[in-house]
Amino acid sequence: MTTTAPTPWLAANEALWDARVPLHADSDWYDLAGFRAGGLALDHIERAGVGDPAGRSLLHLQCHFGLGTLSWARLGAEAVGVDFSAAAVERARALAAETGLPARFEQAEVGALDLGRTFDVCFTSWGVLMWLPDLTAWARTIARHLRPGGVFFLAEGHPHLFIWDDEPGKDGYRPRNPYFRHGAPVVDEEAGTYVDTSATLGLPQYRWNHPLSEVVSALAGAGLRITGMDEHPVLPWQPLPWLVPADRPGFYRIPGDPFPLSFTVTATKD
Ligand SMILES: C[S@@+](CC[C@H](N)C(=O)[O-])C[C@H]1O[C@@H](n2cnc3c(N)ncnc32)[C@H](O)[C@@H]1O
Repeated sequence: MTTTAPTPWLAANEALWDARVPLHADSDWYDLAGFRAGGLALDHIERAGVGDPAGRSLLHLQCHFGLGTLSWARLGAEAVGVDFSAAAVERARALAAETGLPARFEQAEVGALDLGRTFDVCFTSWGVLMWLPDLTAWARTIARHLRPGGVFFLAEGHPHLFIWDDEPGKDGYRPRNPYFRHGAPVVDEEAGTYVDTSATLGLPQYRWNHPLSEVVSALAGAGLRITGMDEHPVLPWQPLPWLVPADRPGFYRIPGDPFPLSFTVTATKD
């Protein structure tokens, strides 16, 4: 029998996300109580990008502990959520059982996913791409799971966010990291999660910055046709301390909106 050593990035990132699940599920940020009371864990950008999901099958990639997937189900979709974190999938399945919402959850690394079926919609959002070393495998997963005429929607933080120093310099924003990293990961210790920047788990994390060109090229390379792309001056978390709250609750912007903070892509399979 041969055994394969676990890939360091995969084992490390899985451990990090497993540890984040209880912290996130108990946080005000995810507002589980509001969801249990009938709320939706989806924002205006996600809702506009997917449209009315009622009666459509929907695959949610990197679904975390399931609130988004269950929200699509609450809106009438036949939803399947996928995440590589065993703790996230376990919590998502428990929430599905508790709420009686018709969503299923599968544990898988996104690049290796093959459910053997197709969907009307493939959806993924906010804080997903930086965890993936290989957007070619990601895009192939999307293409493999979309029916002809099916729609893919991505909402994500803008890749230039990786560049900036936490503190702007005297004369403006100060770059800290290169935009182009040519596939090399940023390996560091997690310094607080986005739901609570003071809650440091002290675990290693592997992240990759993917320029916009890489995202679009990966989707096109997998045979998908890009039907829309937008950049937005807002973002639903605060990755840099110099962002300020935007008009929409939970969203942030830069005073004067000098450059985009997030982007969306819509694609289809012909
Ligand atoms: C920021 S969260 C997802 C955000 C989602 N919009 C939310 O707020 O619930 C990122 C998710 O990606 C998952 N993830 C990271 N790398 C993955 C991979 N290679 N394959 C599958 N899931 C992955 C993590 O477990 C985590 O649940």
